[in-house]
Amino acid sequence: MTDPLTLNIGLCGFGTVGQGVWKHLSANRAELESRLGVKLNLARVAVRDRKKPRTVKAPAARLTDDPLAIANDPSIDIVCELMGGTTIARQVTLAALRHGKIVVSANKALICEHGPEIIAAAQKHGGHFFFEASVAGGIPIIKALREGLVANRFPRIYGILNGTCNYILTQMEDQDAPYADVLAEAKRLGYAEADESLDVDGWDTAHKASVLAWLAHGVWIKTDQMIVEGISRITPADFKNATTLGFGIKLLAIITRDFAKNELCVRVHPTLLPEGNVIANVSGVFNAISVTGDVVGTTLYSGRGAGQDATASAVISDIADASSLLKHGKGAHLIGEATEIRSSGCRLAPPESIRSRYYLRLTVKDQPGVLARVASVMARQHVSIASVIQSPAETSGAASLVLTTHESNERAMRATLKQLRALSSVLDDPLLLRIGDFEG
Ligand SMILES: NC(=O)c1ccc[n+]([C@@H]2O[C@H](COP(=O)([O-])OP(=O)(O)OC[C@H]3O[C@@H](n4cnc5c(N)ncnc54)[C@H](OP(=O)(O)O)[C@@H]3O)[C@@H](O)[C@H]2O)c1
Repeated sequence: MTDPLTLNIGLCGFGTVGQGVWKHLSANRAELESRLGVKLNLARVAVRDRKKPRTVKAPAARLTDDPLAIANDPSIDIVCELMGGTTIARQVTLAALRHGKIVVSANKALICEHGPEIIAAAQKHGGHFFFEASVAGGIPIIKALREGLVANRFPRIYGILNGTCNYILTQMEDQDAPYADVLAEAKRLGYAEADESLDVDGWDTAHKASVLAWLAHGVWIKTDQMIVEGISRITPADFKNATTLGFGIKLLAIITRDFAKNELCVRVHPTLLPEGNVIANVSGVFNAISVTGDVVGTTLYSGRGAGQDATASAVISDIADASSLLKHGKGAHLIGEATEIRSSGCRLAPPESIRSRYYLRLTVKDQPGVLARVASVMARQHVSIASVIQSPAETSGAASLVLTTHESNERAMRATLKQLRALSSVLDDPLLLRIGDFEG
């Protein structure tokens, strides 16, 4: 009997995710190796600071502060890019792919910004790029789209892709607490970064939405081609209003494709979801994704969307795929060509095609006739009001006006907002939320 093939793995990055991969791959090595029929050798590890104390220790002889040395090392078969960022991470990824290596990545920002270049390099040089950990941490959503649901076209994918925002929104609702207080607590607990904007302004979710849109539709959508709105303007009062109306509030990525018109829409924004919707009830740092396929119908996935263990689980699953590919030379990814949207035959949905019901919160002067003036602005844009909740605002002489609309569209609502901002009786920037009438 011949000795099993030994595969050398280089970890570029040994922080939260890198150490998780080392820890779990070491703990489950015997079982993994027996399942895969190969030996897995964690051969080299790149960090910025070799002297930094770490919870999980790698032998000093395997440490380097030069990740490109790992990407260029002919003995390394699989390069795991677990550093983050888009500069050195891009260089390492491209260098490894140009040597025909397999790159495993958890880096959604890199894929969103440089996906076409990375895939082109892999195809040109015979390398492979695996990225299960880049979206929704431990939930195998990439495999689900790429393999399990490959028979389908996808009219709608939506879900919670950022655990930090979901934690903040859940706490605000449960504790009736303001955004700033909950954000401070999330930072203290390590659920939010010191610079929170990537998470709370929706950009991290948008990067992940870009990856899912690419897998589902074969086109690259950049964040400037999406609607991206964050959660920082939501107040405890919005949760009370939403509850009165029968909704919860979640930051969602929503990817819809109208196959008849051949229009694609990718958006990220806080959304009112009916209380009975399963995703409306996903709390804390958990993620959840609903995928509707034209063949399978609606399928639902939920689990831990980030953190050391969940993300390591996804990275190790890619290492297992990579091992299988290297051992058998088959089981390759079902990734087709990906194109820019302008050359794809499909187009970005124009604002008038993006339809939903809306929730509008205004702070207005507490005077007679204000509601009539607001209603007349909305009527001019053919936006019809479905319900009104009026309550005293925190400032004296002001009132809070919460309106929901019947179905309208983004063009009409943008024009409505512009005209409302110009009214002297409207005291601050109106908050517009979309209502997600999703049945599953
Ligand atoms: N954390 C999560 O829950 C999670 C979930 C899904 C995806 N991800 C993605 O996974 C990636 C890694 O995240 P993380 O949370 O593990 O980050 P992290 O804890 O900050 O670790 C980053 C690692 O990369 C190393 N590094 C950074 N720049 C380097 C450079 N120029 N040269 C050599 N080493 C360098 C750091 O070295 P030092 O240790 O010496 O500073 C550190 O070991 C990111 O793309 C992130 O978006 C993370």
